Amino acid sequence: MSAPAPQRPFDDAYFADPYAVYARLRSERAVHHVLLPDESRVWLVTREAEVRAGLADVRLSVNKQHASTGYKGFSLPATLDANLLNIDAADHLRLRRLVSKEFSPRRVEDLRARVEQTCQNLARRLAELLRTDGVADLVDVLATPLPLSIIGDLLGVPDRDRRPFANWVRMMQVPDSPKDIVDAIACIHAYLLDLIELRRNEPDGNLLSGLISVRDEGDQLSGDELVSLAFLILMAGLDNTQHVISSGILTLLQHRDQLAAIRTDASLLPGAVEEILRHTTPNHMAIRRFPTEDIEIDGALIPAGDTVLLCLAAAHRDPRRYPEPDRFDVLRDDKAHLALGYGIHYCLGAPLARMQINVALATMTHCFPRLSLAVPANELSWSRSFRSHSLKQLPITLEPAPRR
Ligand code: HEM
Repeated sequence: MSAPAPQRPFDDAYFADPYAVYARLRSERAVHHVLLPDESRVWLVTREAEVRAGLADVRLSVNKQHASTGYKGFSLPATLDANLLNIDAADHLRLRRLVSKEFSPRRVEDLRARVEQTCQNLARRLAELLRTDGVADLVDVLATPLPLSIIGDLLGVPDRDRRPFANWVRMMQVPDSPKDIVDAIACIHAYLLDLIELRRNEPDGNLLSGLISVRDEGDQLSGDELVSLAFLILMAGLDNTQHVISSGILTLLQHRDQLAAIRTDASLLPGAVEEILRHTTPNHMAIRRFPTEDIEIDGALIPAGDTVLLCLAAAHRDPRRYPEPDRFDVLRDDKAHLALGYGIHYCLGAPLARMQINVALATMTHCFPRLSLAVPANELSWSRSFRSHSLKQLPITLEPAPRR
């Protein structure tokens, strides 16, 4: 099949309802040649079987060195490129083996008490705001500070540095101009280099100290690998967890019968978290991939070096895979999803992400039984990015107590 003229799917209609656009694309073909808002041409894959196969296809490299068409998307500075999401095959296997030792289930369980305590403190602050102001922004008060605080713990950021660290992260996430992003990345990069030196001399038992000292048959992480990994943990761990907590709570508030069921039976919560990950996938796209040789997807010939975007959010609503895919159903039988990836790049932080989301939702459902949205859902503001779909704010309030 010769390449059809590229479509421009990421228009205003898309940002108003991305799932409607995915449904149209998916019904036409599994893969489309499209133009991104920055005019770069990519291949967008939307059907579940093809997205899953793409994630597992070793001919689809995440390494930018394989891009032949001048990939223009988001890139980190070259010094931060020695990270798991920019390498494949033996290089990836070596690095992943080294770092997996430190991402053990035991370490995640060790963090549970800390996550619960942090959640309780944030819930107290939220209750106070709701009492004094009547309204609070859940993104600002819980969904952002929880993962940020836990990542600060993982990296061993000393208390005195938490505020500037949070400010740089905010500047990177909510920039006033593109220059803010570049400046914030430079500040975080410089800070992480200092932090690695600090933890080399003063290990504190946290993840970063563990990564500094990890050894495997004489092999260890290089300086570039350490700082790149620390940066990746920050980037991958913060945004996604934040988005799942906020959009998860929004979804539950919009499905009050299911929220009530979870309140009555806490054993439904882990399944609800998986359904939230499927239904409100934070990362709409997997990281861009580049074919190392010409490949064919659903009859389309994709030349080596082109950019391929595997659309996780579209795959999760594919009726070929999920019955009534747009319906949110915490009791759904088939709960498997691709929100945490699939194949060799499967999310390293998945157990930690799941634990944090479970604790956050358990705290919210338990402590705030009368929670409700403070504005109509169509007035909520979402990020205008085709990569991730995230709430900018989530204003919440408490419903009046029923009259006795
Ligand atoms: C709900 C929260 C999270 C979601 C939805 C998520 C999603 C993902 C996805 C989709 C990938 C694969 C990307 C691809 O193949 O294109 C990935 C990889 C990764 N994630 Fe997560 N993630 C989350 C939380 C975290 C956390 C908390 C951490 C660390 C503390 C983390 C660290 C990583 C790392 C290091 C990789 C790269 C793994 C590799 O290439 O071998 N993630 N994540």
